[in-house]
Amino acid sequence: MAFDGPDLDRAAEILAGAESLLVLTGAGVSAESGIPTFRGAGGLWRNFRAEELATPEAFARDPGLVWSWYRWRRRICLEASPNAGHLAIAGLEDRFPSFLLATQNVDGLHRRASSRRMLELHGSIHHSRCTGCGTVADLPADPGPEDAPPPRCAPCGGLLRPHIVWFGEGYHEGVLETAFAFARTAGAILVAGTSAMVWPPAAIALDGQAHGAALIDVNPEETEISRAADVWLAAPSGESLPALLARLPR
Ligand code: OAD
Repeated sequence: MAFDGPDLDRAAEILAGAESLLVLTGAGVSAESGIPTFRGAGGLWRNFRAEELATPEAFARDPGLVWSWYRWRRRICLEASPNAGHLAIAGLEDRFPSFLLATQNVDGLHRRASSRRMLELHGSIHHSRCTGCGTVADLPADPGPEDAPPPRCAPCGGLLRPHIVWFGEGYHEGVLETAFAFARTAGAILVAGTSAMVWPPAAIALDGQAHGAALIDVNPEETEISRAADVWLAAPSGESLPALLARLPR
């Protein structure tokens, strides 16, 4: 059965009346593509939690282990396809002259769904960064065997790391500032698939609301953002976002 109801009507009304839209996404948007979320069942790898591996300390201790985890995750991302939720977000971009997608996801699925005006707040699983010279580069198309040695920088020979913001690290330059500035002038903010446990991303949405944006949340589970939202669509993003897009005037 297609997703429907008064909450959808209200969300569509908000979007139809907004001149500028910020979309903020988290791992839940990619769940229907088969990519495990961080919190909740199915997020474990060889009995490790993400919080134990996505840190500079874990990388310093055992870069091979951290690379094995990222190769495993990257292969899942490469084998996955964008779902109807990603495609609906790309469709929303065409309807708003002023639009920004800020994603916490590193999987690259928004880009593959043709989203263009976007910020990858936490970096990309498809890029490496040299711990020596700082060069950011595309990783090879094939992630290779999980247990291969950590890759090295072609120009300088330094150890490469995933170009991802880990727990305890600062954000890449300018990224947060751009997202907060956009949120403060947005007419509407649409949040989808985030537990809102990680700050500052959750704060971008709440700060935008405090500056006057109408806030819509899409998440089957209740979160701090769904509680604060003007409208909470308690349904998977792959169902509710296409339904929302279909309600908008062309
Ligand atoms: P989480 O794993 O914390 O939360 C995923 C959210 O998606 C939960 O609230 C689920 O209820 C919701 N969800 C699950 N299936 C869904 C669906 N089909 N449609 C909509 N929502 C669904 O993921 P994030 O909030 O993205 O950081 O986590 C934030 C950050 O924590 C990540 O970017 C990552 C992690 O540490 C880094 O890697 C730096």
